[in-house]
Amino acid sequence: MSYYNISLAEIRKNVEKRKKKYEGDDGSLFDKNEYSVGIIKEIKNNFGETLIRVDGNIPKSLPIETGQRFLFISYDQTRGSHGLHKYPAKFFPELPRWLIQKYSKPDNIVLDPFMGSGTSNIEALLLGRHSVGIDVDPFAKFLTKVKTTKLDVEELQESTDFILNSLVKYDPKKIKETDLPIFPYRDNWFDKEILFELTYIKKQIISSNYSENIKDFQLISLSSIIRSVSNADNNCTRTVVRKKLNKNIYPSMALTKFAETLLLNSYRMTEFCSVVDTNISVEIPSDNDARSIKYPANYFDFALTSPPYANAVDYPRTHQLEMYWLGLANGSLTPMKKEHVGTESVSVNDYKKLHKINIDEADRVIENIFKKDPRRSFIAYKYLVDMEKNLCEVHRVLKKKSKYAIVVGNNKIRGYNFENWKYLMKLSERIGFKVDNYFGSEIIKHFIKVPRDERINTDWIIVLEK
Ligand SMILES: C[S@@+](CC[C@H](N)C(=O)[O-])C[C@H]1O[C@@H](n2cnc3c(N)ncnc32)[C@H](O)[C@@H]1O
Repeated sequence: MSYYNISLAEIRKNVEKRKKKYEGDDGSLFDKNEYSVGIIKEIKNNFGETLIRVDGNIPKSLPIETGQRFLFISYDQTRGSHGLHKYPAKFFPELPRWLIQKYSKPDNIVLDPFMGSGTSNIEALLLGRHSVGIDVDPFAKFLTKVKTTKLDVEELQESTDFILNSLVKYDPKKIKETDLPIFPYRDNWFDKEILFELTYIKKQIISSNYSENIKDFQLISLSSIIRSVSNADNNCTRTVVRKKLNKNIYPSMALTKFAETLLLNSYRMTEFCSVVDTNISVEIPSDNDARSIKYPANYFDFALTSPPYANAVDYPRTHQLEMYWLGLANGSLTPMKKEHVGTESVSVNDYKKLHKINIDEADRVIENIFKKDPRRSFIAYKYLVDMEKNLCEVHRVLKKKSKYAIVVGNNKIRGYNFENWKYLMKLSERIGFKVDNYFGSEIIKHFIKVPRDERINTDWIIVLEK
């Protein structure tokens, strides 16, 4: 088997160049006491509509008129621990930062019931609010735990050097065929050389004497290169191998990429650790679901979230290779998929007949979809049923007069506009919330393409009051 030696000097040089991109003038990432306020101006979009453009941090006192639309420009998506790993439909940090400042106070308890990669929890932590993050996805829980856990900076640096030095000593002969992990279609997803390199890296991480938190951080750094060194398309939410892709995978690629990522992530983590306050808690319960929140009534001071969409991102399939390598999955993903709000895993018996949610606007669309595709009609209906359960649960656990901010876009199902935000407002009023405000935010960037022509464009932020 072929392999090439990697040059640590070359890798360090590349990382220095990439680091420059993230540094502010003074070289620091966060200044938690004094978030600078972004530039605000009125602009027209391509359709001649007026938008308020906010560059960078959103001021707490930004005036909002109901129904108004904003264009937020984000600069912090890969800063600090936010940048450790990609995640589909991630919040841009300025948004939860603003909402948390606006609707809660220091030492309050904040909830994100569809936490994903934990952007809200990181921002709550940096703003001195305790938080709880709920997700059914094991990968999301592991990632958020790593992104919100303060590390010992000395140990972080020492362990990074240790791993880098062990990469230079790589020799495929050190790995046996029986050391390779076993998971479905393994040899289609990965070239032989890459399988050996990844196995070697994982072995170095788990057999070291460093703390579990350090190992978990290194495992997340390993996870973040998995897609790029696999034979799957880097830019698709679903993990798929495309014949026409012509991806250039070469021996030593996993070692080089991992070395670069580990260095860059250590730098990001060091910055995060230098500003984080350990007296503030982030809880990630192992057994909660956004539809069944195991916390007492009137417990939280503020909730915010960006829920999944119906029929859009298949999260278990997005992170399937990462989960195989992290040991979070090893076979069929179907049981995991069924737990997801917006799931496409539904059974024929469910969609034989048309279902109604009893919201006229939504039922009209559900009926139109049914005529073309009963299965997708049921997926859309079930999505609203599940979101209603979430709204009831959040209503129960929020304190009186507290707010629930939901960031949600529209999507197209079978060519029909499925206006999530409007239906969610109706559902929330039906279960006892009052709609306090709603406004639009143009999406700046989605990391990963949504499959089919059914893209999500404007996000709506709906603010509900208990
Ligand atoms: C749009 S993402 C959230 C992204 C997040 N705001 C971030 O910044 O990373 C939606 C999340 O909802 C999660 N989810 C789906 N069904 C769920 C359920 N029943 N309970 C809790 N979380 C769920 C998915 O796993 C996914 O992580």
